[in-house]
Amino acid sequence: MIDIVRMEHIAVAAHELDTPIAQLEGLFGFRLAQKFASNEGYIGATLDIPGGDGLQWEILAPSGAGSYLYRFLGGPHGAGLHHLSLRVPDAVAAIDALREDGVTPWGLAEGEPVESDATFYIHPSTDGHGFLYQIESGEPDTPRRVIDPSEDQDERTIGIIAVNHLSHADASIDELGDWYERVLGTQTIYRSPGDGLETGFATRVLESSRFPLRFEAIQPSTQASYIQRFLERRGPGMHHVAFEVGDWARALNACALNAVPLFGERYGETDGVQWREAFIHPRYTGGVLVQLFWQAAPNVWI
Ligand SMILES: [Fe+2]
Repeated sequence: MIDIVRMEHIAVAAHELDTPIAQLEGLFGFRLAQKFASNEGYIGATLDIPGGDGLQWEILAPSGAGSYLYRFLGGPHGAGLHHLSLRVPDAVAAIDALREDGVTPWGLAEGEPVESDATFYIHPSTDGHGFLYQIESGEPDTPRRVIDPSEDQDERTIGIIAVNHLSHADASIDELGDWYERVLGTQTIYRSPGDGLETGFATRVLESSRFPLRFEAIQPSTQASYIQRFLERRGPGMHHVAFEVGDWARALNACALNAVPLFGERYGETDGVQWREAFIHPRYTGGVLVQLFWQAAPNVWI
């Protein structure tokens, strides 16, 4: 397994920057940190997430006709989750560890020695189960800002207090969950009970003591499952991101003020502790299906 010191950013691909920035600032209270341009065919923006513990949100958009991003945006995934960036102390050690775990690092200059602060990737089609992981190494070049949830008091924002998980759809949560354990050093903390016939899917949740972001491996358990449709249309890959909010009434009110509808609402109780959850369609969130939840006490909702 690789030695992850922190998660850097969740990146989405979009056709342009302004609409997703406005949506993410308006509804989620994200704060624009910087805009950037590269000479490799893209422009981007990074935003800070209230309660995100320094994890940033990155938006990438094509610049110029030949941009490689057009292939992604025009492909089965379309606009939406593009990669997850994580940081390791040393690229050489991380590459050795990945190879030991049967993962072939991608994006390294062939035949050249690897610098300890190199950036490289786990490719979606060879090893990433349909998703791209960016691995940054060494000391970060920019300090990152931690926004305490108490700094986000605008009634028009939903009041995020944590980024809980990325949900990764795949044909097999056994295979994918084992991969997360082996390669990213996470541990399984939950498996959905039963055969999943009622919900249409089965899940396995993984977490690490090294970073707060969890992963939810999700697989269809019936042919009619919406996860099955997702896999048929788009192949394996990230399905949604889940944010925890501190006040359910505020979140509902903020959605109403922004004219953003919720769907898939579920209310429940686990061990006597109430929780609520709902989804927001990607058209309101800069291209990403978002799951929101609230729980009356920590670590109850999964
Ligand atoms: Fe989820």
